[in-house]
Amino acid sequence: ARRVGSKKEKTLAMIKPDAVPKMGSIMESITETGFTITRAKMVLLSRAEAMDFYSEHQAKSFFNDLINFMTSGPIVAMEVIGDNAVSGWRKLLGPTNCSVARSETPQSIRARFGTDGTKNAAHGSDSIASAARELEFFFPSSGGRGPKNTAQFTQC
Ligand code: TYD
Ligand code: MG
Repeated sequence: ARRVGSKKEKTLAMIKPDAVPKMGSIMESITETGFTITRAKMVLLSRAEAMDFYSEHQAKSFFNDLINFMTSGPIVAMEVIGDNAVSGWRKLLGPTNCSVARSETPQSIRARFGTDGTKNAAHGSDSIASAARELEFFFPSSGGRGPKNTAQFTQC
């Protein structure tokens, strides 16, 4: 039964290159929390695709390190559905920096499977609007097979 005040939402969960070997444990955490994984796709992002996905951070000092890491190996993109899935998946992830996560939330995904402030195991959309954009990025609704329907992700 749904709790009072809860809202069924969709979010984009992504397992980053460092944590792909642990994808089973991460998927188990998602489903044990009560969420449902409704789509999943393993892809190797091109630099252009990674830069598009993280375009909000293009002016940041860490952008190049982030893009290098995100294109260093395959990622697994998932559509996750459940009550308050956007904030709930972010909570399960823990803080952005894995060192902080290990001291503050030792059971979180980033504490358990991440390395540092860049190699941090997984991503979660930060709002309903971001979730809609990021789900469309990986799972386009209009029949195309890649970002903006102009490119096809490299198959792994
Ligand atoms: P951000 O959106 O701030 O964090 P989150 O993933 O928790 O929403 O940053 C996006 C990613 O950029 C983050 O997951 C890892 C990387 N990053 C760095 O490499 N260095 C940094 O100082 C920050 C803030 C982020
Ligand atoms: Mg973010």
